[in-house]
Amino acid sequence: MAYKYYKDNRAYIEALKKTGDLVVVNDEVDWDLEMGAIVRRMCERKSPAAHFKKIKDYPDFEALGAPMATHRRLAIAFGLDPATPIPQISAEYLKRTTGSPVKPKIIDRKDAPCKEIVWSGEDANLFNLPAPMVHDGDGGRYICTWHFVVAKDYDTDFVNWGMYRQMAFDEKTMVGPVLAFSDMGKMFYNKYVPRNLPMPFATVISPDPLSAIASSAPSPLPEAEFTGMLMGEPVEVVKCETCDLYVPAHAEIIIEGVVLPNVMIDESPFGEYTGYRTSPREKRTVYRVKAITMRKKSILAVSNMGVPTDEGQLLRSFSLGLEMERMLKDQGIPVTGVYMLPESTHHLVVVGVKPIYANIATQIGQLVFGSKLGPWFHLVVVVDDTTDIYNKDEIIHALSTKCNPATGIRITEHGVGTPLNPFVSPEQRKYGAAPKVIFDCTFPLNWPASELPVKVAFNSVYPKEIQEKVLSKWNQYGFKD
Ligand SMILES: Cc1cc2nc3c(=O)[nH]c(=O)nc-3n(C[C@H](O)[C@H](O)[C@H](O)COP(=O)(O)O)c2cc1C
Repeated sequence: MAYKYYKDNRAYIEALKKTGDLVVVNDEVDWDLEMGAIVRRMCERKSPAAHFKKIKDYPDFEALGAPMATHRRLAIAFGLDPATPIPQISAEYLKRTTGSPVKPKIIDRKDAPCKEIVWSGEDANLFNLPAPMVHDGDGGRYICTWHFVVAKDYDTDFVNWGMYRQMAFDEKTMVGPVLAFSDMGKMFYNKYVPRNLPMPFATVISPDPLSAIASSAPSPLPEAEFTGMLMGEPVEVVKCETCDLYVPAHAEIIIEGVVLPNVMIDESPFGEYTGYRTSPREKRTVYRVKAITMRKKSILAVSNMGVPTDEGQLLRSFSLGLEMERMLKDQGIPVTGVYMLPESTHHLVVVGVKPIYANIATQIGQLVFGSKLGPWFHLVVVVDDTTDIYNKDEIIHALSTKCNPATGIRITEHGVGTPLNPFVSPEQRKYGAAPKVIFDCTFPLNWPASELPVKVAFNSVYPKEIQEKVLSKWNQYGFKD
């Protein structure tokens, strides 16, 4: 059964407009910093998304700024009411992605909007696309900030979709970081590079919202099939012009080509999701462009990373937390929920658990740090089931009152990190090394029940009938909320 979803960004834009989650900008905006500055301010103020109708020098293009930087927009992407609380959006993600993967459906190129315009040869020029200069100080124009790269494993049928940023280096060349532990990194560095073989790729810019969520989620499944699960029906794909990869047919722009083995060129600096500029100009992975296809009047999506809250922080926190919950439950750990705070730039995760045996917090920390998800965060706060993991006041209260500074903080010095961590030394950053820490906010199990501090809260120290009476008469007393 198909769920409610939007097949392309145009339908999503209409939905955002209806709920007041989109501003249409009719004034011309400059791709050189002005558009980036608007989107940055929007993220910091949690403003609605923006549909830019006129871009300087590029009359045939429009842009969508900050496509999914709020939980309201995330809820809309799932076809839910924009006011849906985070735990319910999470439940929807977990419901849709439990069960069998849904293979994509191949459609004819004449039915594929992303083939309305085809540029090949000299025409396939990256600077004919309205790539924004996102931040002052960036190393170049970033054409791909809300997109994914499609690539196929060398000796299996596994096809990966992953969101890895790309900068326009010259008319025919893009460059970007492909981290060694990412799925594409493993395929490229382990299989194509040793054989000195170029790896075909297709970059899908401005995909439909659910494909975007799937491509940035750390799921072990092929993301096309994961997208089908989120949609409740197959995602429609079409064959590329220059290789046998398939791309979502309703996306706005597709860039095709090959990733070159054993060549690296300069990329960065770039304003990062951590809220800092941490990656210096360095040699990174090279994408050589062969063809560009697109919809008429195509709408480039632009995400602007920086201090919270941008898409990277919001979406990665969402899916990292939920994939962690799934993994811990699969291991039989009695977790009551997992919430990664977007404001932490997906560095801090709160895990709720029924502490039924000793050192369960250590076990949780070791499992999540040791998993594929581990490099992206370094703070794990484990609370018991009396703490609401979505309530920041309760998290701070638990951390400040239950975590013993001498025995409840467990540090691992040599963890796997990313080159973007602001808090580690430049050398550790270079090698992607980072320390990790677990905060155990559960009371030790060997304390006698009579000695356990009793939490003094409305829902813990009053009889049920008093609570119910007070709740039912709350507005009558004169309170609004
Ligand atoms: C807006 C955005 C930009 C991202 N840029 C990068 C990037 O440049 N490099 C990278 O390794 N991961 C980046 N990520 C994170 C990856 O998309 C994420 O790790 C994803 O799960 C990759 O899939 P993989 O597990 O198949 O490698 C980005 C995520 C988002 C939401």
